[in-house]
Amino acid sequence: MLEEQLSALQAEAQRRIDSAQTPEELEKVRIDVLGRKGALAEASKQMAKLAPEQKASAGKLLNSVKQSLESLFETKKAKYDDEMLARRLDAEWLDLTLPAPGVRPGTLHPITRIQREIEDLFTSMGFAVLDGPEVETEYHNFDALNIPADHPARDAQDTFWLTDGHLLRTHTSPVQIRGMKKLGPPLRMIAPGRVFRNEEVDASHEHTFYQLEGMMIDRNVSIANLIYFMKTMLSAVFHRDIKVRLRPGFFPFVEPGFELDIHCLLCGGSGCPVCKQSGWVEQLGCGLVHPNVLRMAGIDPEQWNGFAFGLGLTRLVMMRYAIDDVRWLQSGDLRFARQF
Ligand code: FA5
Repeated sequence: MLEEQLSALQAEAQRRIDSAQTPEELEKVRIDVLGRKGALAEASKQMAKLAPEQKASAGKLLNSVKQSLESLFETKKAKYDDEMLARRLDAEWLDLTLPAPGVRPGTLHPITRIQREIEDLFTSMGFAVLDGPEVETEYHNFDALNIPADHPARDAQDTFWLTDGHLLRTHTSPVQIRGMKKLGPPLRMIAPGRVFRNEEVDASHEHTFYQLEGMMIDRNVSIANLIYFMKTMLSAVFHRDIKVRLRPGFFPFVEPGFELDIHCLLCGGSGCPVCKQSGWVEQLGCGLVHPNVLRMAGIDPEQWNGFAFGLGLTRLVMMRYAIDDVRWLQSGDLRFARQF
């Protein structure tokens, strides 16, 4: 009786497996036949009612039906899996030799770009590139640079003071002191870096901007040497002759001191917000190193002298790329950054 039932069940299950059209249909047949509450489980329950001598042969038959159906399911399921994989491979086919779509390579920030150009130039002329801390001591930022204790630059209106007496360096000039102490004379060094000033922001003034310090100490350094290096630097950056003017400037750490302006390349000299309608943009301060500064760095001013300059790297980049507002440079605006 049970044998007949089992062979009918097997024949019906085989038919349903053969005619299943989708993996979902096949799974339904599997649950109906082989599931915990399926037809085979039901048949297995009925076995309990059989006489003990019939149980052994019925159990064998049940197992063989179960195994043969399981193997039919596996074969058909594997076929579906293969087909699905083939379909996926077809759909996901990709050509590894094609350039990746939609990936925009990053670009160097214009300040980094010009900074590197200037570093390469000065390195080729025997200058070392030094780094200094952005959080400085009052000694390195002011005292050692011959800046008097009552100088207005030390005011909280101009300088960001930290509560522990340190400050955010207001210029890269403190690296002159560190450089002289580290290298000793004769020396040639530059020091690019970020500086901070507590000041009103406008088209040409930022509170955080970049300078590039330069210094040369040797036996007989002259203003002609200083002018030569400034001209070489400007022609390397602009790749053409540009109008400059040198005027006397006062910095306590140089004597004599100068300021170098360049003809405003944004308005061509006719006047704009960047040059404050003057036609000229202040680019750098420079001069011959004050003997007091040499002395404070342990260098004998009777034996050695030198020049120093502090370039407004941010302003130079504005002129180089005709950027009409200094605030663009730190805006993080990708529309701006992607132009370089
Ligand atoms: C100084 O900082 C001196 N340490 C420069 C120096 C070094 C003189 C060595 C002599 C010898 P000054 O404050 O003028 O000087 O700044 C130098 C340059 O930084 C300026 O010419 C200008 O190009 C740039 N600069 C100054 N303030 C700002 C600002 N708020 N935003 C952007 N650039 C500025």
